[in-house]
Amino acid sequence: MITVVANLKGGSGKSTVSFNLSIWLLSHGYEVQAFDLDPQLTFHDVAQIRRDEDHQPVLEVMALETLTADINHDAEVIFDVGAANPQGMGEAIRQAHRIIIPVPPSQPDVWATQRFLKTVREAREGMDEPLEIVVFVNRADTHHAVRESDDTEAALAQLQGVTVLPHRLYQRTIYRRSMSEGLAVFELWRGSKGSDEFDIFASALYQ
Ligand SMILES: Nc1ncnc2c1ncn2[C@@H]1O[C@H](COP(=O)(O)OP(=O)(O)OP(=O)(O)O)[C@@H](O)[C@H]1O
Ligand SMILES: [Mg+2]
Repeated sequence: MITVVANLKGGSGKSTVSFNLSIWLLSHGYEVQAFDLDPQLTFHDVAQIRRDEDHQPVLEVMALETLTADINHDAEVIFDVGAANPQGMGEAIRQAHRIIIPVPPSQPDVWATQRFLKTVREAREGMDEPLEIVVFVNRADTHHAVRESDDTEAALAQLQGVTVLPHRLYQRTIYRRSMSEGLAVFELWRGSKGSDEFDIFASALYQ
């Protein structure tokens, strides 16, 4: 399956999710083909750190501007795309079987998601192939008194043609450490809240 992790807004967690999902898939025996179409190359760089540190399993991430590589249809394919490369983003969206959209808990992020859905519809115009669009709250507040994550999830549930994944990823230091060390959250600290929530999240996506 070809999965594109995308959103128009920066900093929503696309690269963090792309990286952790790829390692989760490799750890569960899947073959993974990974692409970074964002000129920032965060996904590519974190995989490079992982290889420099000799962490197993090895993740290769191909850095591309446009979709010039052959897709391996036997693999789970992960694309990290950003708005800085609209052409690459459009190409990835046209290839996708599924788009995963991380949304931080705020009204501007909901607006940006609405706008991104319009981009997706435009990119897929004239195509009949089914496309699953999954949205979820990333960087959710860990304090139960803060309502923004619930409000954001409720707003996302109103959007047409999307599935709201009922498994949030919370705002946790371990996700930042994951990116600086080239290790997935469940490799950094198995049994931690971040590790458990990520396992539930990834299992729901690849059941
Ligand atoms: N659930 C989380 N908890 C804490 N920090 C997070 C979480 N998700 C992402 N971050 C941090 O937020 C920052 C942005 O995340 P990331 O780079 O994955 O976003 P992005 O959408 O790929 O950004 P860009 O648009 O710049 O490519 C990073 O510092 C990352 O470590
Ligand atoms: Mg990124």
